[in-house]
Amino acid sequence: MSNTYTDLVKQTFYFPQEGFEIHDSNLFFNGVDLRAIIEKYGTPLKLSYLPKIESQINKAKQMFVNAFKKHKYEGKYHYCYCTKSSHFSFVVEEALKHDIHLETSYAYDIEIINRLYEKKKINKDIFIICNGFKQKSYTSRIAKLLNNGFKNVIPVLDNKDELDLYKRSVKVPFKLGIRVAAEEEPTFPFYTSRLGLRAKDILEFYVDQIEGYENKFQLKMLHIFLNKGIKDDIYYWSELNKVVNLYCQLKKICPELDSINIGGGFPIKHSLGFDYDYQFMITEIVGNIKKACKKAKVPMPNIFTEFGSFTVGESMAHIYSVIGQKVQNDREIWYMIDSSFITTLPDTWGIGERFLLLPVNKWNNEYQRVVLGGITCDSHDYYDSEEHINEVFLPKLNGETPNEPLYLGFFHTGAYQDQISGYGGIKHCMIPSPKHIIIEKDKSGKLVDWVYAKEQSAQSMLKILGYIK
Ligand SMILES: Cc1ncc(COP(=O)(O)O)c(C=O)c1O
Repeated sequence: MSNTYTDLVKQTFYFPQEGFEIHDSNLFFNGVDLRAIIEKYGTPLKLSYLPKIESQINKAKQMFVNAFKKHKYEGKYHYCYCTKSSHFSFVVEEALKHDIHLETSYAYDIEIINRLYEKKKINKDIFIICNGFKQKSYTSRIAKLLNNGFKNVIPVLDNKDELDLYKRSVKVPFKLGIRVAAEEEPTFPFYTSRLGLRAKDILEFYVDQIEGYENKFQLKMLHIFLNKGIKDDIYYWSELNKVVNLYCQLKKICPELDSINIGGGFPIKHSLGFDYDYQFMITEIVGNIKKACKKAKVPMPNIFTEFGSFTVGESMAHIYSVIGQKVQNDREIWYMIDSSFITTLPDTWGIGERFLLLPVNKWNNEYQRVVLGGITCDSHDYYDSEEHINEVFLPKLNGETPNEPLYLGFFHTGAYQDQISGYGGIKHCMIPSPKHIIIEKDKSGKLVDWVYAKEQSAQSMLKILGYIK
């Protein structure tokens, strides 16, 4: 009986799938021959496949078009990219080619906005949604943007005091948003999110602090973001309805209010078994908002989203070699990789995140249950379960091509991992940041690959550590 890795995958999932197919026992990612990339650049490596960003943006926009059509929805839809998921210029500039807006989280984001404007990647009409608990360095940069004519910069108030800072420093009429503090899901250690204003305080805050100053600033947007993401469960629908009902109440006394921002939180594929109906969710969200507005007899708001993971997550892969097998007892077989999970995919270690794991080669070998180990000294530098199953199965190392290493790909790793790990810098046990390869379309539409960053050098770390001046 044949018991190859290919058999395992085909028995468990529909395969091949969009973005993943096998040719001659080797994996192709979005049509890219990963073996060829590995032969050219070696492992460990990070791979950014930029055309995925365009297809994700277009996919979401089209689904909103469909949902608006279905419900005869009267507002507009604005796609914002949340920069914190990946601030890299090649990501943000690629996203900006597809008629999108931006969401920021910290003062230094505004420096990115300035730079994008200088490079003519954006103009002053772009919506910049400024979230976060803001220090003066952030609010003063926001005020400067507004004073310089970026008329669609919307500071989203995270607390009541924030407004005073703009009142003092913004010299032109400006728009405001308010983040509505969500109730946390029942399994979280806290009841209410620390982010935003308490829902029950917002009407009073509006009447006391905003109403009557419409020629100076206008409340335009209510914002909600749920850490757990956009999911078809009672928690999501009840939090969404809370903000929609608040919009309906406020709209009656605040005619300028015209937008609801539902934040980010679209899930992405972390397993070949991923089954999420994006169109259903968008259609339901739009339908729910419309229904509440009709009932309250108020106009439908424009809808903003701030998709981070959805925009950039599926554009990236981390590729490692298995550099050795260790059998420490009768049950556990370790495959040691040429890097570290803690340092390159910190969410696997910090919050137990699972990514889509597939071997790049040896698909015709038999498979076995293994645990993956990183090469730091840390006992927690391991990866032992997948999204769909509490185990990891991978091809055996010998078989058809005994002299060739097994290569492993962790896919859809493009959001937050570099931001949390830090890019370069000191790393646990001084395991270097892997090289980073970009694949993009050139002007003629042909795919080209190039090195964005080489593997981090010992010198770069020694300099930070003070050994080299
Ligand atoms: C305010 C806000 N908007 C959008 C996002 C993006 O979320 P995601 O990457 O899940 O789309 C985040 C993520 O933390 C956020 O805090």
